Amino acid sequence: MSLQSSDAAFELVTLRGGGRSIRSKAHGETMHIGTDPRTEAHELHVAQQRLAERLRDWHQAEPFVIWDVGLGPAGNAITAIEVICEMIHNKTRESSTSVELHSYEISTEVLEFALRHAGELEYLNGWEAILRELLETGKASPAPSIEWRLHRGDFSRQPHDAPAPSVIFFDPYSPAQNSEMWNLETFRSMWKVVNTPGAPDCTMTNYTRSTSVRVTMLLAGWFVGTGVSTGEKEVTTIAANRLDLLMKPLDDTWLARVRSSTNAEPMRGRNNERGPISPEDYARLIAHPQFLG
Ligand SMILES: C[S@@+](CC[C@H](N)C(=O)[O-])C[C@H]1O[C@@H](n2cnc3c(N)ncnc32)[C@H](O)[C@@H]1O
Repeated sequence: MSLQSSDAAFELVTLRGGGRSIRSKAHGETMHIGTDPRTEAHELHVAQQRLAERLRDWHQAEPFVIWDVGLGPAGNAITAIEVICEMIHNKTRESSTSVELHSYEISTEVLEFALRHAGELEYLNGWEAILRELLETGKASPAPSIEWRLHRGDFSRQPHDAPAPSVIFFDPYSPAQNSEMWNLETFRSMWKVVNTPGAPDCTMTNYTRSTSVRVTMLLAGWFVGTGVSTGEKEVTTIAANRLDLLMKPLDDTWLARVRSSTNAEPMRGRNNERGPISPEDYARLIAHPQFLG
């Protein structure tokens, strides 16, 4: 990765695959991994969640809802929008189906930086006006049947007032830098939304493979499985509100690893210090419906 351009808070970097991304100096983290932002968004989120197929098969009157948690420089959101626009163009989607994209972001500074470098960031080309509208008004319509909303503020402290999602792109900074987004309280508040009667099938994708994060998601209620490989990550994580939505649910072999791990403790509050899982938490974990019978 090499440095290209910089201001006080962010700098433009070149990823190993040649694509450009942005690094937050404060968090010491780059927004995307692998070859380029679009490839990561596609492999990890859009393709893994079978967005196109699920949209094609969506025959309900309500909109198909996507939550984009951690909008950042909008790599995931734009990639999803492009897939939906292509479906509209190719007429592989009923034009009456509407899509709501709800993006959550605590600070839009990174998106503003990205817009100043849209030409270098390639994936933003052509989307500048829509992104400015989103920033200025909190909403935009990238295509006639797509409504895009920006929810500003701390996602971990907000009541989730958007409709229950079918798809969640969960993309904060790492637990070490952004612990409030990865704790039991945050995953529980999301679980409550997707576990209400009438909520659609929901999947949530993320780049982590951390045992502690997976334990935390499970204790919050989510069903959790191994996700696809992307960039330098051999495995990632996918969670769902139903076990049968997962291709590779975590199993007894993984439970055995939890038991022997020195840092499988779930994340609570803002404490990112982790030790072995306690007997009480382990008992709760093995009582999760994912591991019963
Ligand atoms: C890795 S970047 C997101 C990259 C983006 N999804 C993309 O595809 O280009 C993480 C983003 O999460 C945002 N974030 C961190 N903590 C947050 C919080 N508590 N609430 C809402 N957004 C948060 C950060 O400001 C940052 O923009």
